[in-house]
Amino acid sequence: MRMFFLRSIKNILFARLALLLLVFILSSCASDLERIPHRLAPGDSVFDELTRKWIASAYFDEGMNYQGSRLEVVSFSQLLDKYIESDEVDAILLNCADDYQGIVSVEDVRRYDLQLATKIELAQKADRPDWLQPLMIIVPDEMNPPFLERFLTANINELRFVRLTDYYAPLDRVKTSSGPGLRVFKDNCLFCHSINDVGGNKGGILLDKFDFRLDMEKLRFEDAFLRMHGQDNANKQNTKQFLTAGHLIALSEFLSSMAELRRVEFAR
Ligand code: HEC
Repeated sequence: MRMFFLRSIKNILFARLALLLLVFILSSCASDLERIPHRLAPGDSVFDELTRKWIASAYFDEGMNYQGSRLEVVSFSQLLDKYIESDEVDAILLNCADDYQGIVSVEDVRRYDLQLATKIELAQKADRPDWLQPLMIIVPDEMNPPFLERFLTANINELRFVRLTDYYAPLDRVKTSSGPGLRVFKDNCLFCHSINDVGGNKGGILLDKFDFRLDMEKLRFEDAFLRMHGQDNANKQNTKQFLTAGHLIALSEFLSSMAELRRVEFAR
């Protein structure tokens, strides 16, 4: 009886200790999170600590079909240096107005010396869509990343640090053929067309709009894409410019596989 009593005291003490340890670990995680800038507007004081300069960007002008734009920028890498202290995070989630959600890897920010525009000045008479507001990712002229929607993210008002594998997990479960569909979708579409709650919703959920089991629907998808994103439209969402031959079919294949995965998981 006495032994039993002692043992249960020991157990209780252990349980308490374990709980304390857990609370300690959790609270140290929380303090890490507090350093992350949640809302970040162009006027925030953090930008006063960074060097601002005016530059041109051929990448921006090409993507927007403009000429001679001028951009006041700060170095994205320098901003990261102020916040990132561990190797745990490898990407920055960019929450934007209008339900656009961008994401860029820390590696790309550094490799291409990406900049963040705090002011955007267009040449006279250029028409400006509402969404073209700072903060915006800008590729400086010396750099040559692939031409993607990803590197033209605008109207950013919140930065969060995340891990790529966590963020993309709901997409990466899909078994696609070896084609480029998944990559092309991540680089150009996910920001406005979410899948399984990942990404933005500015353009709605494509898996709900089209029944990718049917060939007719795949064609309707391609037609609708070209109508919406095909040429210089009023809203300047000319997403087709980022695609090369075969990409649209690859996207359609990827969306079919994703729809299939959703059906299988739903049936379980
Ligand atoms: C900047 C945001 C944005 C990006 C990036 C984007 N879209 Fe869209 N997309 C939209 C909006 C907005 C609509 C119009 C939605 C509506 O009218 O309800 C749309 C409509 C569409 C439609 C027609 C859907 C319908 O309702 O008829 C298709 C298909 C489509 N997008 C495919 C794509 C694909 C594929 C990509 C990537 C290659 C892509 N979009 C990238 C915003 C975007």
